[in-house]
Amino acid sequence: MSKTNRIAPSILSADFARLGDEVKTVIAAGADWIHFDVMDNHYVPNLTFGPMICSALKPHAITAAGAAVPIDVHLMVQPVDALAQAFADAGADFISFHPDASAHVHRSVQAIKARGCKVGLVFNPAVSLEVLDWMIEEIDLILIMSVNPGFGGQVFIDSALRKIGEARKRIDACGKDIRLEVDGGIKTDNIARVEAAGADTFVAGSAIFGQQDYRGVIDAMRLQLKAKTS
Ligand code: DX5
Ligand code: ZN
Repeated sequence: MSKTNRIAPSILSADFARLGDEVKTVIAAGADWIHFDVMDNHYVPNLTFGPMICSALKPHAITAAGAAVPIDVHLMVQPVDALAQAFADAGADFISFHPDASAHVHRSVQAIKARGCKVGLVFNPAVSLEVLDWMIEEIDLILIMSVNPGFGGQVFIDSALRKIGEARKRIDACGKDIRLEVDGGIKTDNIARVEAAGADTFVAGSAIFGQQDYRGVIDAMRLQLKAKTS
């Protein structure tokens, strides 16, 4: 069971004029993953970046020791399948999508896995975990949205804590090594509550990129976490 915590800075809040440098800097500051928020201005009311940016950033997603840093693609797009394939081509390590954005969730999951990527399902604040009844054995990651998708810098929605707890129970019951990631409104002063609810992977955008000292924030977050993070 993956009890090692991971901190995944979201480049949605990075300086888009210097994305390569920002990825290198946040990895040097201790980021475990790079969270890549893809928005299509259809499924969500915002437009961000596509597979070409992922390809361009991929060579920079390495630590000083030369270890690959996973690119954790969060697809807020509809339809899902063609873009998921394009991100697999672009070097995505994890590809997660919203089940309500796919007409055939099981087929979309299979198509992502067929490319050798790890696959996740993403749950908006008002969406239940019911699809996991049929899908939990097929996936590698559950992403719980603690804000409504589309923008960084929003306030954490507390009901997500209850859903995180339910997701943790489902993961523990199925016995598969599935990551439980939470996305939206995570700060140094609430990350411990999110971990206590059952999460092991934490997306943070504005909390990190909104500050001068990325390492200072990441280290402060790690200090709040009980489980080891490296
Ligand atoms: C919402 C985005 C944000 C982002 C995190 O669609 O997915 O949640 O990653 O943003 P912050 O950490 O600023 O809430
Ligand atoms: Zn996200």
